[in-house]
This record gives sequence, structure tokens and C-alpha cells, in this order.
Amino acid sequence: MEKKNIIVKLKKSGLVGRSGSCFPTGLKWEMVKKAKADKKYIVCNASEGEPKNEKDKFILEKYPAEVVGGIKIALETIDNSFAYIYLRKDYYQKFKKKLEKLSNGFPIEFVKKIGGYLSGEETVLCNVIEGKKPEPKIKPPFPVESGIFGYPTLVCNVETFYSVSKIAKGEYKNTRFYTIAGDVKNPGVFEFFEKISVNQILKNTGNYPGFDFFAQVGGGASGEILLPRELNQSVKGAGVIIIFDSKKTDNWALMKQWADFFLAANCDKCVPCREGIYRISKMIEEKKIDKKLFEDILFVMRETSFCSLGKCVVIPFESRSSIPFESSFILTPSNTDSDVESFKLALWLPLATVSVLLSIVVFMALYFASLAADMFRFLPLFISKSCPLLCSVFFSDSQVIVSASRLNVLHLTAILSCF
Ligand SMILES: Cc1cc2nc3c(=O)[nH]c(=O)nc-3n(C[C@H](O)[C@H](O)[C@H](O)COP(=O)(O)O)c2cc1C
Ligand code: SF4
Repeated sequence: MEKKNIIVKLKKSGLVGRSGSCFPTGLKWEMVKKAKADKKYIVCNASEGEPKNEKDKFILEKYPAEVVGGIKIALETIDNSFAYIYLRKDYYQKFKKKLEKLSNGFPIEFVKKIGGYLSGEETVLCNVIEGKKPEPKIKPPFPVESGIFGYPTLVCNVETFYSVSKIAKGEYKNTRFYTIAGDVKNPGVFEFFEKISVNQILKNTGNYPGFDFFAQVGGGASGEILLPRELNQSVKGAGVIIIFDSKKTDNWALMKQWADFFLAANCDKCVPCREGIYRISKMIEEKKIDKKLFEDILFVMRETSFCSLGKCVVIPFESRSSIPFESSFILTPSNTDSDVESFKLALWLPLATVSVLLSIVVFMALYFASLAADMFRFLPLFISKSCPLLCSVFFSDSQVIVSASRLNVLHLTAILSCF
């Protein structure tokens, strides 16, 4: 296996993470290689938890030597490193022996995945390998800096290691694997150029539907919903394409399926995701969707969830507006909204009244305070008016004139009212 200049080759190839992360693989390898530590870890992520996604299983079945080859290149490239192949429970039973034979002579160990979909996330996977609870860690630091037991850790997908092998051998043709499922004639895993459109994939595999349909593209639960006219684009995410016959598909049931999946997958650690999924699933269950509230929940989940799972939930629901889901929403006038409006009014009126009254009181107080102060200064004028003889004894003419010149109309009115 050619490991010389592999990082340069990876960068030149433009390979990005095939988990769906799309992170540049060459850059990730370089970060781990350059990280300063006396020990480093490499993980091949074979946890494949997204529904319908089967490409990693397909690769482990067909090309296990390429996958292990990619891991070996990583071990040779990254000094003082140790590797784990992290396998989903059924993949562990199925592939461990075969992979073990291929790993012979290399420091590679096997770990059985604990938990569901979330346990495929890289920080959760680090926790599982450390023997801890399968829950996410805060990022940053990212695993490339601080992963398993705090050591720099390179986590890559099965297909990414496969592609690394191909690149090292000069056989890489910028292809990737796609899983096609749903209402199609030829479901399965297919390899195509990475920039090919969904349309082209469906046609080339004899799967383009002859009926009204829509597709979920990217992931089996976190994939985007696209209409036929939107299929002239490449596949994102983990490379999943699911076709739905519009007439046969119950949109409510499909949305419930996504909600249930994420409800079971989330770890309850943070409020936006835990509460958000629960509320979304309740609305779907009752078939009553308050559109504004629904969108607000999605917004909060996308912006504030602790880990990427909470952000993934949003994808299929947010893309729903382009498909018949919109018409199946029962848009109820929002009780919550009117409650909020009357609450706002009830609060606003007394607040406004109190502030107007307070401003009047403060203005009057200030005015009379200044008036009182001015009365002192206008004493000569006051005395000169009321008692001219006394004035000539105590004050000069200029003092009387100065105090008169300071007089403004308001003060004059107030002073005059004294007479
Ligand atoms: C909820 C969740 C589940 C994930 N599941 C998987 C998985 O099953 N397999 C996988 O390779 N990556 C999965 N990932 C992505 C990993 O965190 C990580 O980014 C990936 O293994 C890196 O590989 P790559 O650089 O080759 O794409 C998941 C991420 C999230 C947020
Ligand atoms: S977003 Fe929050 S609740 Fe959801 S899986 Fe991540 S940490 Fe757990």
C-alpha cells in the first residue's frame, strides 16, 4: 500500500467525509498528524444508524480489504497511533472475523456499538470506546484535538477509508456509493460519480418512477424532501435516495415515522431537542399543526440544540413546504398566539399609564425645584417690586437687572402669581 505523501494525495483528490459530514478528509488527517501528543487514535465508523442506509454494509461485504487497507495507511501515516473498528451490533457479528483476519499484524481492535443512531456521532462514539455513557460531548474541542481519553482522534466513515485505499493505489475515480430504496423496481447500493444528479441515478439504475412521486434524499430520516422537478442536483448527506409513491404514501404516517425515530434516538440531554421532538411528535399524532409554533420549534432546535442530532431533525420537516405535506397540515388558529396577545395588552396598558403619570410627576417636581431655586436668585427683583425702598438699601440696580434678565416666561408667570 502506497502511504507516501498520502495527505497531499487526499487533498488533491478533493475527497470529503462519506458519512455525510463532507469534511475534507486530507485536512482532517493533517490535523491529527500535526497534533502534539504522545498517543493518537484512529476510528473506522461502521455504525451506520440512519434508516435505509446500507452502503457501509455493502462495502464491508464487497470490499473489506480496501477498508482495512485505508485504516492501515492511517496507522502508518499518523505516528504512535492505535485503531478501532467501531461496528453496529449486527455488523459486529457479521464482519468482525473477516476484518480481524485482514487486520493481522496491525494494532486494530473491534468495538461493538452501544445505543442507537446517536452513537454514530463522533463524540458519542469516543465516550462508548472509553466505556462511558453514549452521550455527546461539547465541541470544541473536536476529536482531532481531543478525542478518545483526550488524545487526538481521527474518526472516518467506512466508505472514506475505502476511498483512501483507492486514492493510494491511484484507482480513485471520484465516485461514491448511493443507497436506493422505497417504491422502486431495483433497490440496492450503486456506485456513481459523486456529482451525478438524483435524476440521472434513478434513470441509470432503471428506478425512475412512472407515477407521481417525491423523494427523500441524503438520509433515511434526516434527508431532504424533494419533488421531481428538484432532482436535478447531486445527492448530499449519506447518499440515500428513497422514492415515495405520492398516491400510496400517507404523509402523516411518514412524518410520524421520522418523529418517532428521532424521539427514540435523542438522549434527553438538552431541552431544545428533547422538548422540541416531543412537541412535534404530539402535533403530528393529533394531526393538528399550528404552523407558526411548529416553525418556531424547528428554528429553536436548529439554532440551539447541543449536538447535530437536534439539527438533523429539522431537515425533513423544513423541506416539507415543497411537497403535499403542506396541504395536509390542519392550520388551527393559534390559542397560544391570542393568549400571548391579550397577555401583552394586559401588561402594556397599566405600564403605559404608570409611566405617563410618573413622567408628569417627575417633570412637575423638577420644575418646582428649579422654581424654588430661582426664587432665591430673583429675590432682589421680588423685593424691588414689593418694597422698592428696602431694595435700594440692600441691593444695587445691577443685581435687580441681572435677576430680571434671567427671568423666563414660565418663571415670570409663577413669580407674578406670588404677587
Ligand atoms: C446523530 C449522528 C449520527 C451519526 N452517525 C454516523 C454513522 O452511523 N456513521 C458515520 O460514519 N458517521 C456518523 N455520523 C458522523 C460522525 O459524527 C463523524 O462526523 C463521521 O464518522 C466522520 O467521518 P467522515 O469524515 O468520513 O465523514 C453521525 C453524526 C451524527 C450527528
Ligand atoms: S441535541 Fe441534545 S437531546 Fe438531542 S441528542 Fe443531542 S444532546 Fe441529546
